[in-house]
Amino acid sequence: MPARGGGPAAGQDGMTSAGRRPLVAGNWKMNGTRASTAVIEAVRGGLTPDLASRIDVLICPPSTLISTCVQAAEGSPIAIGGQNLHAKPSGAFTGSISAEMLADLGATYVIVGHSERRAYHHETDDGVHAKALGARRAGLCGIICVGETKEEGDQGRALDIVRAQLAIGIPKGATARDTVIAYEPVWAIGTGLTPTPADIAEVHASLREMLDKLVGEEAGRIRIIYGGSVKAGNARQLLGVENVDGALVGGASLVAEDFLGICAAYA
Ligand code: PGA
Repeated sequence: MPARGGGPAAGQDGMTSAGRRPLVAGNWKMNGTRASTAVIEAVRGGLTPDLASRIDVLICPPSTLISTCVQAAEGSPIAIGGQNLHAKPSGAFTGSISAEMLADLGATYVIVGHSERRAYHHETDDGVHAKALGARRAGLCGIICVGETKEEGDQGRALDIVRAQLAIGIPKGATARDTVIAYEPVWAIGTGLTPTPADIAEVHASLREMLDKLVGEEAGRIRIIYGGSVKAGNARQLLGVENVDGALVGGASLVAEDFLGICAAYA
């Protein structure tokens, strides 16, 4: 299904065509120091009340900045989230951070199973499942990432890969309050390359069908967002694709103006 022309990606009531409230999430990755709270302040200043009434806005800074970013975002529509967590609530896991610790700092979301975690830290689908359970246990909303590599895509296996990642990763009884799915083709992350709107529509439709099978009626309320080289210049087209309920944004979330430009796809 092609993108819906140049019109706004969300309807007058701020909902996508399927009635899900869009989520625009920034993932700062391993970038930022305390001075980066200026980005939060600039996003806060640039979000009009009208836009804030239509969409959910989230920034996931490095864990060192969660506390300061929570403070900078206080009283604003911006939620703050973690980029990773340990599945267990506490224990002898040097260097790790639990969902409870993130929640204690004021985080409300956490990214789970980002492809960089899978590639560089050997995270498995079972590990993603355990972490998603950890997020739910602490009252966080887990953003479960799925996506095929270039090689898997070239072999025509994208749908099989992402469906399996979803089926294993998602906790039983997932709800829209504790779960968001992010489709991020690995080859589109940080490369400036994006799938065609038709390809994104095909994957999102397939994930939505799988979600229906996995969680039943609640599936229709769970958001499936797209990530991979989303920029202000392509956001309107990508976010207008059927079954795309928002964006997970890496590089373009580091500059307030760029991130606001993506949010503006829903203005
Ligand atoms: P990108 O990253 O927007 O820089 O491509 C997306 C992501 O990794 O979530």
